[in-house]
Amino acid sequence: MKAVRVLEYGGPLVWGDVPTPTIARDEMLVKIKSTAVNHVDLVKAAGTARQVLPIDLPWIPGHEFSGVVEQIGSDVAAYAAGDAVFGTGTGAYAEYLAVKPALTTRKPSNLSFEEAASVPVAAQTAWQGIFTQGRLEKGQTILIHGGAGAVGAYAVQLASHAGATVIATARSDDEAYLGSIGASRVIDYRKAPFEQVLREKVDLVFDLIGGDTQKRSFLVLKEGGHLVSATQPVSQEETARHRVSGAMIRLAPSADMLGRIARLLEEGAMRADVATVYALQDAAQAWKDIAANLPGVHGMLPSAQDAARRRPHGKIVARVA
Ligand SMILES: NC(=O)c1ccc[n+]([C@@H]2O[C@H](COP(=O)([O-])OP(=O)(O)OC[C@H]3O[C@@H](n4cnc5c(N)ncnc54)[C@H](OP(=O)(O)O)[C@@H]3O)[C@@H](O)[C@H]2O)c1
Repeated sequence: MKAVRVLEYGGPLVWGDVPTPTIARDEMLVKIKSTAVNHVDLVKAAGTARQVLPIDLPWIPGHEFSGVVEQIGSDVAAYAAGDAVFGTGTGAYAEYLAVKPALTTRKPSNLSFEEAASVPVAAQTAWQGIFTQGRLEKGQTILIHGGAGAVGAYAVQLASHAGATVIATARSDDEAYLGSIGASRVIDYRKAPFEQVLREKVDLVFDLIGGDTQKRSFLVLKEGGHLVSATQPVSQEETARHRVSGAMIRLAPSADMLGRIARLLEEGAMRADVATVYALQDAAQAWKDIAANLPGVHGMLPSAQDAARRRPHGKIVARVA
Protein backbone atom coordinates (compact mmCIF):
# COMPACT_ATOMS: atom_id res chain seq x y z
CA MET A 1 0.00 0.00 0.00
CA LYS A 2 0.98 3.66 -0.26
CA ALA A 3 1.68 5.65 2.90
CA VAL A 4 3.34 8.81 4.14
CA ARG A 5 6.34 8.15 6.39
CA VAL A 6 8.82 10.03 8.53
CA LEU A 7 12.20 8.29 8.13
CA GLU A 8 14.16 10.33 10.66
CA TYR A 9 13.32 12.86 13.39
CA GLY A 10 12.77 16.25 11.78
CA GLY A 11 13.01 14.75 8.28
CA PRO A 12 10.59 15.30 5.37
CA LEU A 13 7.38 13.36 4.81
CA VAL A 14 8.07 10.62 2.29
CA TRP A 15 5.32 9.13 0.07
CA GLY A 16 5.93 5.54 -0.97
CA ASP A 17 5.18 1.81 -0.77
CA VAL A 18 5.01 0.00 2.57
CA PRO A 19 3.58 -3.40 3.54
CA THR A 20 -0.20 -3.47 4.10
CA PRO A 21 -0.88 -4.12 7.83
CA THR A 22 -1.94 -7.58 8.94
CA ILE A 23 -4.71 -7.72 11.55
CA ALA A 24 -4.89 -9.50 14.90
CA ARG A 25 -8.02 -11.51 15.85
CA ASP A 26 -9.46 -8.47 17.66
CA GLU A 27 -8.76 -5.98 14.87
CA MET A 28 -10.26 -4.88 11.56
CA LEU A 29 -8.51 -3.79 8.39
CA VAL A 30 -9.97 -0.46 7.29
CA LYS A 31 -9.50 1.03 3.84
CA ILE A 32 -8.82 4.63 4.77
CA LYS A 33 -10.85 7.31 2.99
CA SER A 34 -9.59 10.33 4.96
CA THR A 35 -7.36 11.22 7.88
CA ALA A 36 -6.79 14.54 9.66
CA VAL A 37 -3.77 16.54 10.73
CA ASN A 38 -3.07 17.03 14.43
CA HIS A 39 -0.40 19.04 16.24
CA VAL A 40 0.76 15.82 17.86
CA ASP A 41 1.76 14.40 14.45
CA LEU A 42 4.25 17.24 13.99
CA VAL A 43 5.48 17.16 17.59
CA LYS A 44 6.12 13.40 17.47
CA ALA A 45 7.86 13.62 14.08
CA ALA A 46 10.10 16.46 15.26
CA GLY A 47 11.38 14.29 18.11
CA THR A 48 11.51 17.23 20.49
CA ALA A 49 9.20 15.47 22.96
CA ARG A 50 10.47 11.92 22.35
CA GLN A 51 10.75 11.19 26.09
CA VAL A 52 6.98 11.51 26.51
CA LEU A 53 5.82 10.88 22.93
CA PRO A 54 8.17 8.22 21.54
CA ILE A 55 7.79 6.80 18.03
CA ASP A 56 9.47 3.95 16.15
CA LEU A 57 11.16 5.16 12.97
CA PRO A 58 10.28 4.90 10.15
CA TRP A 59 6.92 6.14 11.37
CA ILE A 60 3.55 6.62 9.66
CA PRO A 61 1.79 9.67 11.20
CA GLY A 62 -1.97 10.07 11.60
CA HIS A 63 -4.10 9.48 14.69
CA GLU A 64 -7.63 9.47 13.26
CA PHE A 65 -9.42 8.16 10.21
CA SER A 66 -12.63 7.50 8.37
CA GLY A 67 -12.96 4.57 6.01
CA VAL A 68 -14.61 1.31 5.08
CA VAL A 69 -14.08 -2.04 6.80
CA GLU A 70 -12.27 -4.37 4.40
CA GLN A 71 -11.59 -7.38 6.59
CA ILE A 72 -12.43 -8.41 10.19
CA GLY A 73 -10.50 -10.49 12.71
CA SER A 74 -12.14 -13.70 13.98
CA ASP A 75 -13.01 -12.11 17.37
CA VAL A 76 -14.78 -9.07 15.88
CA ALA A 77 -18.56 -9.45 15.97
CA ALA A 78 -19.89 -5.91 15.82
CA TYR A 79 -18.72 -5.02 12.29
CA ALA A 80 -18.75 -6.51 8.81
CA ALA A 81 -16.87 -5.82 5.60
CA GLY A 82 -18.34 -2.76 3.89
CA ASP A 83 -19.26 -0.86 7.09
CA ALA A 84 -18.39 2.85 7.04
CA VAL A 85 -16.50 3.68 10.24
CA PHE A 86 -14.38 6.36 11.88
CA GLY A 87 -12.15 6.47 14.92
CA THR A 88 -8.64 6.75 16.30
CA GLY A 89 -5.55 4.68 15.61
CA THR A 90 -1.92 5.42 14.82
CA GLY A 91 -0.61 5.25 11.27
CA ALA A 92 -3.61 6.68 9.43
CA TYR A 93 -1.59 8.54 6.74
CA ALA A 94 -1.93 5.37 4.68
CA GLU A 95 -4.26 3.44 2.40
CA TYR A 96 -5.03 0.81 5.06
CA LEU A 97 -4.98 0.70 8.86
CA ALA A 98 -5.47 -2.12 11.39
CA VAL A 99 -7.93 -0.70 13.95
CA LYS A 100 -9.49 -1.83 17.22
CA PRO A 101 -13.31 -1.84 17.44
CA ALA A 102 -12.91 -0.38 20.96
CA LEU A 103 -11.67 2.84 19.33
CA THR A 104 -14.03 2.80 16.34
CA THR A 105 -17.65 3.77 15.70
CA ARG A 106 -19.97 3.77 12.72
CA LYS A 107 -19.69 6.92 10.61
CA PRO A 108 -22.71 9.23 10.95
CA SER A 109 -24.61 8.88 7.67
CA ASN A 110 -24.95 12.66 7.23
CA LEU A 111 -21.18 13.27 7.38
CA SER A 112 -18.83 12.92 4.42
CA PHE A 113 -15.70 10.83 4.93
CA GLU A 114 -13.68 14.08 5.05
CA GLU A 115 -15.92 15.50 7.78
CA ALA A 116 -15.90 12.24 9.75
CA ALA A 117 -12.09 12.04 9.73
CA SER A 118 -11.92 15.48 11.32
CA VAL A 119 -13.94 14.49 14.38
CA PRO A 120 -12.37 11.77 16.59
CA VAL A 121 -9.36 13.50 18.19
CA ALA A 122 -10.74 17.02 18.59
CA ALA A 123 -14.27 16.08 19.65
CA GLN A 124 -13.20 13.39 22.12
CA THR A 125 -10.58 15.74 23.64
CA ALA A 126 -13.36 18.28 24.13
CA TRP A 127 -15.73 15.68 25.61
CA GLN A 128 -13.10 14.31 27.96
CA GLY A 129 -12.05 17.80 29.04
CA ILE A 130 -15.43 19.23 29.80
CA PHE A 131 -17.49 16.19 30.84
CA THR A 132 -15.21 13.33 31.99
CA GLN A 133 -12.65 15.55 33.74
CA GLY A 134 -14.48 18.87 34.12
CA ARG A 135 -17.85 17.36 35.15
CA LEU A 136 -19.69 20.26 33.51
CA GLU A 137 -23.40 20.45 34.41
CA LYS A 138 -26.45 22.24 33.04
CA GLY A 139 -26.64 25.81 34.35
CA GLN A 140 -22.91 26.14 34.99
CA THR A 141 -20.62 28.64 33.29
CA ILE A 142 -17.55 27.55 31.34
CA LEU A 143 -14.67 29.63 29.97
CA ILE A 144 -13.00 28.00 26.95
CA HIS A 145 -9.57 29.34 25.94
CA GLY A 146 -8.98 28.89 22.22
CA GLY A 147 -12.69 28.43 21.53
CA ALA A 148 -12.34 29.01 17.77
CA GLY A 149 -9.80 26.19 17.33
CA ALA A 150 -10.54 22.59 16.41
CA VAL A 151 -10.94 21.28 19.97
CA GLY A 152 -12.41 24.55 21.22
CA ALA A 153 -15.24 24.55 18.66
CA TYR A 154 -16.37 21.09 19.83
CA ALA A 155 -16.08 22.19 23.46
CA VAL A 156 -18.27 25.22 22.73
CA GLN A 157 -20.89 23.07 20.99
CA LEU A 158 -20.91 20.29 23.59
CA ALA A 159 -21.06 22.70 26.54
CA SER A 160 -23.81 24.76 24.96
CA HIS A 161 -25.81 21.63 24.09
CA ALA A 162 -25.44 20.49 27.72
CA GLY A 163 -27.12 23.71 28.89
CA ALA A 164 -24.06 25.59 30.15
CA THR A 165 -23.32 29.26 29.58
CA VAL A 166 -20.30 29.37 27.28
CA ILE A 167 -17.70 32.13 27.26
CA ALA A 168 -14.76 31.77 24.89
CA THR A 169 -11.48 33.56 24.34
CA ALA A 170 -10.61 34.10 20.67
CA ARG A 171 -9.97 36.87 18.15
CA SER A 172 -12.92 39.21 17.65
CA ASP A 173 -12.87 38.07 13.97
CA ASP A 174 -14.13 34.73 15.31
CA GLU A 175 -17.03 36.19 17.32
CA ALA A 176 -19.76 35.50 14.73
CA TYR A 177 -18.50 31.94 14.19
CA LEU A 178 -18.45 31.25 17.92
CA GLY A 179 -21.91 32.76 18.36
CA SER A 180 -23.22 30.49 15.61
CA ILE A 181 -22.02 27.37 17.45
CA GLY A 182 -23.29 28.31 20.91
CA ALA A 183 -20.95 30.77 22.67
CA SER A 184 -22.84 33.47 24.51
CA ARG A 185 -19.80 35.70 24.84
CA VAL A 186 -16.40 36.07 23.20
CA ILE A 187 -13.45 37.87 24.81
CA ASP A 188 -10.73 38.97 22.38
CA TYR A 189 -7.52 37.72 23.96
CA ARG A 190 -5.48 40.29 22.03
CA LYS A 191 -7.38 43.36 23.24
CA ALA A 192 -7.57 42.96 27.02
CA PRO A 193 -6.69 40.43 29.71
CA PHE A 194 -9.73 38.15 30.05
CA GLU A 195 -9.54 38.24 33.85
CA GLN A 196 -10.11 42.00 33.74
CA VAL A 197 -12.98 41.82 31.26
CA LEU A 198 -14.84 39.00 32.95
CA ARG A 199 -17.11 40.24 35.75
CA GLU A 200 -18.44 36.89 36.95
CA LYS A 201 -16.47 33.84 38.13
CA VAL A 202 -16.84 30.58 36.25
CA ASP A 203 -17.31 26.94 37.29
CA LEU A 204 -14.94 25.47 34.73
CA VAL A 205 -12.03 26.70 32.63
CA PHE A 206 -11.05 24.52 29.66
CA ASP A 207 -7.56 25.62 28.70
CA LEU A 208 -6.40 24.91 25.14
CA ILE A 209 -3.65 27.55 25.22
CA GLY A 210 -1.49 27.08 28.35
CA GLY A 211 1.31 29.31 29.65
CA ASP A 212 0.28 32.67 31.03
CA THR A 213 -3.34 32.06 29.93
CA GLN A 214 -3.48 29.09 32.29
CA LYS A 215 -1.84 31.00 35.16
CA ARG A 216 -4.35 33.84 34.92
CA SER A 217 -7.26 31.40 34.75
CA PHE A 218 -7.09 30.74 38.49
CA LEU A 219 -8.28 34.33 39.01
CA VAL A 220 -11.63 33.72 37.30
CA LEU A 221 -12.60 30.40 38.92
CA LYS A 222 -15.24 30.09 41.63
CA GLU A 223 -14.10 28.40 44.82
CA GLY A 224 -14.49 24.65 44.18
CA GLY A 225 -14.24 25.17 40.41
CA HIS A 226 -12.14 23.11 37.97
CA LEU A 227 -9.35 23.96 35.58
CA VAL A 228 -8.86 21.37 32.86
CA SER A 229 -5.95 21.75 30.48
CA ALA A 230 -5.22 19.89 27.25
CA THR A 231 -1.84 21.57 26.85
CA GLN A 232 0.24 21.37 30.03
CA PRO A 233 0.18 20.11 33.62
CA VAL A 234 -1.79 22.22 36.09
CA SER A 235 0.11 23.52 39.14
CA GLN A 236 -1.23 21.76 42.23
CA GLU A 237 0.21 24.54 44.41
CA GLU A 238 -1.96 27.03 42.55
CA THR A 239 -5.07 24.87 42.72
CA ALA A 240 -4.65 24.53 46.51
CA ARG A 241 -4.01 28.25 46.91
CA HIS A 242 -7.17 29.14 44.97
CA ARG A 243 -9.29 26.31 46.45
CA VAL A 244 -10.05 24.79 43.07
CA SER A 245 -9.09 21.55 41.39
CA GLY A 246 -7.15 21.14 38.19
CA ALA A 247 -5.69 18.51 35.91
CA MET A 248 -4.21 18.03 32.48
CA ILE A 249 -5.90 15.53 30.21
CA ARG A 250 -4.35 13.25 27.65
CA LEU A 251 -6.86 11.87 25.20
CA ALA A 252 -8.08 8.38 26.12
CA PRO A 253 -10.40 7.65 23.19
CA SER A 254 -13.23 5.13 23.36
CA ALA A 255 -15.94 3.80 21.07
CA ASP A 256 -18.52 4.73 23.72
CA MET A 257 -17.48 8.40 23.84
CA LEU A 258 -17.17 8.63 20.05
CA GLY A 259 -20.55 6.92 19.68
CA ARG A 260 -22.21 9.62 21.80
CA ILE A 261 -20.50 12.29 19.70
CA ALA A 262 -21.61 10.51 16.51
CA ARG A 263 -25.23 10.60 17.70
CA LEU A 264 -25.07 14.36 18.33
CA LEU A 265 -23.60 14.88 14.86
CA GLU A 266 -26.25 12.68 13.29
CA GLU A 267 -29.05 14.53 15.11
CA GLY A 268 -27.63 17.84 13.88
CA ALA A 269 -26.96 19.01 17.45
CA MET A 270 -23.35 19.57 16.52
CA ARG A 271 -21.38 20.11 13.31
CA ALA A 272 -17.95 19.12 12.05
CA ASP A 273 -15.95 21.86 10.35
CA VAL A 274 -13.30 21.01 7.78
CA ALA A 275 -10.89 23.84 6.96
CA THR A 276 -9.02 22.39 3.98
CA VAL A 277 -8.80 19.04 2.21
CA TYR A 278 -5.47 17.90 0.71
CA ALA A 279 -4.54 14.73 -1.12
CA LEU A 280 -2.60 12.49 1.27
CA GLN A 281 0.50 12.80 -0.96
CA ASP A 282 0.43 16.53 -0.15
CA ALA A 283 0.53 16.02 3.63
CA ALA A 284 3.72 18.13 3.80
CA GLN A 285 1.72 21.15 2.61
CA ALA A 286 -0.98 20.40 5.19
CA TRP A 287 1.69 20.39 7.90
CA LYS A 288 2.95 23.79 6.71
CA ASP A 289 -0.59 25.14 7.08
CA ILE A 290 -0.67 24.54 10.81
CA ALA A 291 2.89 25.73 11.38
CA ALA A 292 1.60 29.16 12.42
CA ASN A 293 0.39 27.58 15.65
CA LEU A 294 3.51 25.52 16.20
CA PRO A 295 6.56 27.71 15.59
CA GLY A 296 9.77 25.76 15.89
CA VAL A 297 8.19 22.33 15.60
CA HIS A 298 9.46 20.03 12.84
CA GLY A 299 11.57 22.82 11.37
CA MET A 300 8.50 24.97 10.73
CA LEU A 301 8.64 28.73 10.73
CA PRO A 302 5.65 30.68 12.01
CA SER A 303 3.73 32.23 9.13
CA ALA A 304 2.42 35.76 9.32
CA GLN A 305 -0.29 36.37 11.94
CA ASP A 306 -2.76 37.34 9.21
CA ALA A 307 -2.27 34.02 7.47
CA ALA A 308 -3.49 32.28 10.62
CA ARG A 309 -6.56 34.50 10.73
CA ARG A 310 -7.46 33.85 7.10
CA ARG A 311 -7.40 30.11 7.67
CA PRO A 312 -10.96 28.74 7.65
CA HIS A 313 -12.28 27.14 10.83
CA GLY A 314 -12.00 23.43 11.47
CA LYS A 315 -9.49 20.69 10.84
CA ILE A 316 -7.13 20.10 7.96
CA VAL A 317 -8.00 16.78 6.35
CA ALA A 318 -6.04 14.54 3.98
CA ARG A 319 -8.03 12.47 1.49
CA VAL A 320 -6.73 9.08 0.42
CA ALA A 321 -7.16 8.52 -3.31
N1 LIG B 1 -4.14 16.60 25.61
C1 LIG B 1 -4.57 16.04 24.49
O1 LIG B 1 -4.79 14.83 24.42
C2 LIG B 1 -4.79 16.92 23.29
C3 LIG B 1 -5.57 16.47 22.22
C4 LIG B 1 -5.81 17.34 21.15
C5 LIG B 1 -5.24 18.62 21.17
N2 LIG B 1 -4.45 18.98 22.21
C6 LIG B 1 -3.85 20.33 22.26
O2 LIG B 1 -4.90 21.27 22.44
C7 LIG B 1 -4.52 22.51 21.86
C8 LIG B 1 -5.62 23.00 20.92
O3 LIG B 1 -5.69 22.13 19.82
P1 LIG B 1 -6.52 22.52 18.52
O4 LIG B 1 -6.40 21.39 17.59
O5 LIG B 1 -7.85 23.03 18.91
O6 LIG B 1 -5.64 23.77 17.98
P2 LIG B 1 -6.03 24.87 16.92
O7 LIG B 1 -7.08 24.37 16.00
O8 LIG B 1 -4.74 25.39 16.37
O9 LIG B 1 -6.71 26.01 17.80
C9 LIG B 1 -6.06 26.90 18.63
C10 LIG B 1 -6.93 28.17 18.67
O10 LIG B 1 -6.47 29.05 19.69
C11 LIG B 1 -6.46 30.38 19.17
N3 LIG B 1 -5.54 31.13 20.01
C12 LIG B 1 -4.20 31.32 19.87
N4 LIG B 1 -3.71 32.00 20.93
C13 LIG B 1 -4.76 32.22 21.77
C14 LIG B 1 -4.90 32.86 23.05
N5 LIG B 1 -3.85 33.39 23.68
N6 LIG B 1 -6.12 32.89 23.62
C15 LIG B 1 -7.20 32.34 23.01
N7 LIG B 1 -7.14 31.74 21.79
C16 LIG B 1 -5.93 31.67 21.19
C17 LIG B 1 -6.10 30.18 17.72
O11 LIG B 1 -6.57 31.18 16.88
P3 LIG B 1 -5.77 32.46 16.36
O12 LIG B 1 -4.28 32.19 16.51
O13 LIG B 1 -6.24 32.62 14.94
O14 LIG B 1 -6.28 33.52 17.24
C18 LIG B 1 -6.91 28.93 17.38
O15 LIG B 1 -8.25 29.30 17.04
C19 LIG B 1 -3.17 22.25 21.16
O16 LIG B 1 -2.13 22.68 22.00
C20 LIG B 1 -3.14 20.76 20.99
O17 LIG B 1 -1.82 20.25 20.89
C21 LIG B 1 -4.23 18.17 23.27
